[in-house]
Amino acid sequence: MKCLLFGLLLCCFTAVAQVNIIPQPVSVKLSGTNGKFTLRPDTQIIVEGSGLENSINFFNSYLKAYYGFALETASVPKGNNNLTLNFERMDDSIPGAYYLSVDKKGIYIAGDNETGVFYAIQSLIQLLPMAAGGKQLSIPYVEISDRPRFAYRGLMLDVGRHMMPVPFIKKFIDYLAMHKMNEFHWHLTEDQGWRIEIKKYPRLTEVGAWRDGTVIGKRPWKGNDNIRYGGFYTQDQVREIVAYASKRYITVIPEIEMPGHGSAAIAAYPWLSCFPNEKTNIPDSLLSEEGRKTNGKLVYEKWGVAEDVFCAGNDSVFEFLQNVIDEIIPLFPSQYIHVGGDECPKTNWKRCPQCQKRIRDLGLKDEHELQSYFIQRMEKYINSKGKTLIGWDEILEGGLAPNAVVMSWRGEKGGIEAAKQKHTVIMTPTTYVYLDYSQAKHEDSLVIGGYLPLEKVYQYEPIPPVLSADDGRYILGAQANIWTEYMTSPSKVEYMIFPRVDALSEVLWSPKSAKNWMDFKKRLPYQFERYNLWATHYFSDSSEYDTR
Ligand code: ACM
Ligand code: ZN
Repeated sequence: MKCLLFGLLLCCFTAVAQVNIIPQPVSVKLSGTNGKFTLRPDTQIIVEGSGLENSINFFNSYLKAYYGFALETASVPKGNNNLTLNFERMDDSIPGAYYLSVDKKGIYIAGDNETGVFYAIQSLIQLLPMAAGGKQLSIPYVEISDRPRFAYRGLMLDVGRHMMPVPFIKKFIDYLAMHKMNEFHWHLTEDQGWRIEIKKYPRLTEVGAWRDGTVIGKRPWKGNDNIRYGGFYTQDQVREIVAYASKRYITVIPEIEMPGHGSAAIAAYPWLSCFPNEKTNIPDSLLSEEGRKTNGKLVYEKWGVAEDVFCAGNDSVFEFLQNVIDEIIPLFPSQYIHVGGDECPKTNWKRCPQCQKRIRDLGLKDEHELQSYFIQRMEKYINSKGKTLIGWDEILEGGLAPNAVVMSWRGEKGGIEAAKQKHTVIMTPTTYVYLDYSQAKHEDSLVIGGYLPLEKVYQYEPIPPVLSADDGRYILGAQANIWTEYMTSPSKVEYMIFPRVDALSEVLWSPKSAKNWMDFKKRLPYQFERYNLWATHYFSDSSEYDTR
């Protein structure tokens, strides 16, 4: 008995010392022999099945980038040092289950499907030594069985406030893949910038993608930097990014905001506003010099919510948005189209004759019902194209569109309500997954505010206990949101999201019963070593970030 206990302890100790995978797999069994397989430049990849090019290419690119070699692929082994890729039915409802074994016979991977093989490769990458440039990569003998807990494992990136270059978007997608996440919610339009080329409306990017300056510092801000800022993604770049993501089994969900957060579009086409002739409301003290010279619409130059929103009483506005959606749909194979729906001030609608006429004509109760009408009308259109609408939880107000998916951000309340109404829900509550909040108590860099330490993200449980088992099934998963008011560069984005994305990946992938904060913390330093290898920025208790 004592001996068995000692054996168990040793096995656990060895596990800690040798296998440090994030997110924690369902089952990890070390052989107990301390044996190791050596992956080397002449190791062959043996492919027993089709459709595995994505996994092979990903692995070879990784080996090439960090160790300087790539492996050859064959269907019949030449020698006895092989990495075998295969399929085995595991009948999991969520794609991505896999089995990975490393022993003296070699490395054997079986995925339930292509995605499973891809995730096995991600685990294999985490078994490789950290030192760059090695040609004899020893990997411990181990047996791993694994499968995802949630179907939706996402990150949202706001490129409206700050534009991120295409190579970084690809890197960001790689980060998702390496954390076994599968949904990239791309927040493409904002008050402060419209970031996607729409051929029918060229002014959206000629005008709407550029602001003449940005407020300095934190609310109530210290003037305007007067630096023209902007950029956008061409449709060719979007196609390139979507294809890149798809090779990593990641869906790109586009978000086109309406009826609020539309200042940039309104600057391009003022007739989208209830009051086309009114100047955008920004106090002079916060406005750029260029902005002070005009009497018209402006791409928003300060943070916060603009009052100028799309007019809900003007049919041409709907026609415009439908035409935009017509160009969006062929670019994004995603089943979901996100239309925002959050933070739409009702001030303009209250004094707009066209909006008020719409309320009267349709017998609506108030402007909240007008917002509901707006979203429902867009939903009908999106559904008619075979797609499903997602909106932030404000779309519950005034009545939920019949088939809409709800993203619950103002806490979990909206998600709970939507699940009770039998709507699919994606949880993104500020309290647990807003990665623009500070990771450090003392705000070690310029951030929007709030405090969200790593442990709080780790402790998040996406299915609220108040839901019945039946209603809990409507929670598809969760997503962290990355709003970029105070993230002006890719390195700041990385610094803000890591290692909180590690914690979230474990929330979304690992079985609830396998979650263990102390164990996660023990694995984290190995992940930091990997981030060092990748030259990725991250927060750790000792790090400080340049605040300028
Ligand atoms: C949001 O944070 N306004 C969705
Ligand atoms: Zn109006």
